[in-house]
Amino acid sequence: MAPYKISVAGTGYVGLCTAAGFASKGYEVIASTHDPEKADKINRGIPPFFEPHLEELLKEAVSDGYLKCEVGRTEAVKKTDITFVAVGTPSQPDGRINLQHIQDCAREIGEALTEKSSYHLVVVKSTVVPGTTQNIVKPILENGSNKSCGKDFGLCMSPEFLREGSAVHDTLNPDRVVIGEHDKTSGDTLHNLSREFYSEELPPIVRTNLPTAELVKYANNAFLATKISFINQIANICEKTSGTDVNIVANAIGLDKRIGSQFLRAGLGYGGSCFPKDVKALIAFSTSLGYDPLIIKAVENVNRAQPYKAVKLAEKALGDLKDKRIAILGLAFKPDTDDIRESTSIKIINRLLENGASVVSYDPAAMTNTKKIFGERADYAPSAIECIKGANCCIVATAWEEFKQIKPRDFIQNMKTPIVIDGRRIYNPEEYSCELDFTAIGLGQ
Ligand code: UDX
Repeated sequence: MAPYKISVAGTGYVGLCTAAGFASKGYEVIASTHDPEKADKINRGIPPFFEPHLEELLKEAVSDGYLKCEVGRTEAVKKTDITFVAVGTPSQPDGRINLQHIQDCAREIGEALTEKSSYHLVVVKSTVVPGTTQNIVKPILENGSNKSCGKDFGLCMSPEFLREGSAVHDTLNPDRVVIGEHDKTSGDTLHNLSREFYSEELPPIVRTNLPTAELVKYANNAFLATKISFINQIANICEKTSGTDVNIVANAIGLDKRIGSQFLRAGLGYGGSCFPKDVKALIAFSTSLGYDPLIIKAVENVNRAQPYKAVKLAEKALGDLKDKRIAILGLAFKPDTDDIRESTSIKIINRLLENGASVVSYDPAAMTNTKKIFGERADYAPSAIECIKGANCCIVATAWEEFKQIKPRDFIQNMKTPIVIDGRRIYNPEEYSCELDFTAIGLGQ
């Protein structure tokens, strides 16, 4: 029997993967939410969102009795030794993060702590700007519990780096664990838990203070977003330089060990629930300190413009887009998820509709979410081939594996005019351009 009992506040990607991850290794885990419908689903082993392998893990954890989900957080905290806070920190219109859920959650944990006599560790996993854990979470916990942080209870900040689509794998196999600690006992407790959890596969542990751990998460995501915007700029230069191909450039520079090959896939820009929000929050945070973060602002600017390159390429091929039928393959912000938050496809579809085009789309997982946004303003197809049928142009916006199986002859046989814009570089340009009117991001033609 594992010595620590774990509670996890929040049942999004981070919360549920953390909860299921601990439960899969034999920890008793209580996840908590305020949504009874979500709790009911989780207690039946069904994740409230699509994430590969999470359902298997969850079903097993629930049926073995290691994981349950409760409505409300107080009991979960009282019955456990360590609470992970994984509630959302959404963007506000000015880019700053909204701390409402963090504050509400800290209040509930504080209340629960009044009734606890044993030591309890609170670990913030949500992405928060430097100073939040020390200056906002800690006072709420202390005031709510009438207890002293560092003595009666502990406090850490440990950012999560999981990617949607491989969230389960990333939770169980992180590149490192960052432990921001309020005091040594707090840090030692989380360090012990990590040793126990990862056992022989303990990743490097970085121990530091709370604000540094908070900044690590932003620096990490901003750096990855920088790599993407950088290669997208090179792609845009390639497009203006006959004979060049950004993929060959990316491959060659990626072989330089100082650069590394990952996150150099040029395309229509980054989306999702993290990069756009975190880049904006870091800009707002830095600006609030009186420092103008030029590089990070440029990353954001490049990314804002990038999706519309697909629309420009469609205009270049077709002229006026009014009444033209444009097929969009891929709606999720990346493959293997149904998440369309900040998805580039949504921006592209909006622009196409503004330009009077008729839009038909298909995605293996994200149709339901997309229909909620566009309703009857767009058409939806039941398969990729149905989607391209009769279209004047096809834009590939998400690199789903199944789109890679579509051959030039499929486009030729099904489309009205076989014009294909590869926004994610999934096709070999040599093979596709000899048969089709084919263009791709980052190809100088
Ligand atoms: C990201 C971080 O990778 C993860 O560490 C953090 O915890 C949360 O944010 P996620 O948003 O799930 O994870 O997906 P990721 O695989 O990083 O992709 C983000 C976006 O960047 C996607 O839209 C993807 O298409 C785009 N991307 C990624 C590129 O355009 N090019 C690349 O080379 C890599």
